[in-house]
Amino acid sequence: MNPKSIGVFDSGLGGLTAVRQLRRLMPSENIIYFGDTARVPYGNRSRETLLQYARQDLRFLRTFNLKAVVIACGTVSTNCLETLREESCWPITGVVEPAVERAAAVTRSGKIGLVATRASVASGAYERVFRRADPALEVHALACPLFVPLVEEGRYRPGDVVIETVAREYLTPLVEAGVDTLVLGCTHYPLLSEVIGGVMGPGVTLVDVGAEAARACRDLLAAGDALAERETGSARFYTSDRAVNFQRLAALFLGEEEPVEQVDIFQY
Ligand code: DGL
Repeated sequence: MNPKSIGVFDSGLGGLTAVRQLRRLMPSENIIYFGDTARVPYGNRSRETLLQYARQDLRFLRTFNLKAVVIACGTVSTNCLETLREESCWPITGVVEPAVERAAAVTRSGKIGLVATRASVASGAYERVFRRADPALEVHALACPLFVPLVEEGRYRPGDVVIETVAREYLTPLVEAGVDTLVLGCTHYPLLSEVIGGVMGPGVTLVDVGAEAARACRDLLAAGDALAERETGSARFYTSDRAVNFQRLAALFLGEEEPVEQVDIFQY
């Protein structure tokens, strides 16, 4: 039993898809979330910049009494996870390993698609972990840089002509490659599940990396006998840009409105 909180961070709102799953799987846990909306998107940045941002995000989280951290950002997980793990005093869960585990388990054809930010795809991290899981898997990785800004603009609903067009344009090569499993390698993308599923077709299983990271975090805490035992946990949300903007969109990701506080991340 461990009453400390779970820290979660992302470049912006996408990581809230992981928070939703964490709350569903572990309703007793306290969660501290930081979304770096002042510097979103992370997806086109260099590893050096990503490391600098992620270290600041973690320094902010360190001001709370934590027992574990979830990096609910595909871009930081793919580029910086090992370094951040070496530097950190808590167990850190990223999104890559849990998602690969799930995709490798559900694929029947062995052909797996991956959509993610440019920096995530360029890192090759997913391919490396897939190769370790099963060298026979065929992985088709594709950067979809327009998805995050469109989601952050609220353009993610089926029927929205902009997102429908962009999704079809990006995803057609994966449909043609015949993948039967598609890893949504960025935590913003679950909001696009319906649009992406519509293009890929009903035979393709979508893997939500935030949900898989939440599951892995739960397993990790359970294995270390570190789950909380209170009846209901709480969640606190922090953002580096205007709280009202974050709050309005956060409700879409979380399914309910929550109070949000702005922090000056440049101080950390
Ligand atoms: N949600 C993040 C990810 O999972 C980042 C997207 C971005 O900031 O570009 O990659």
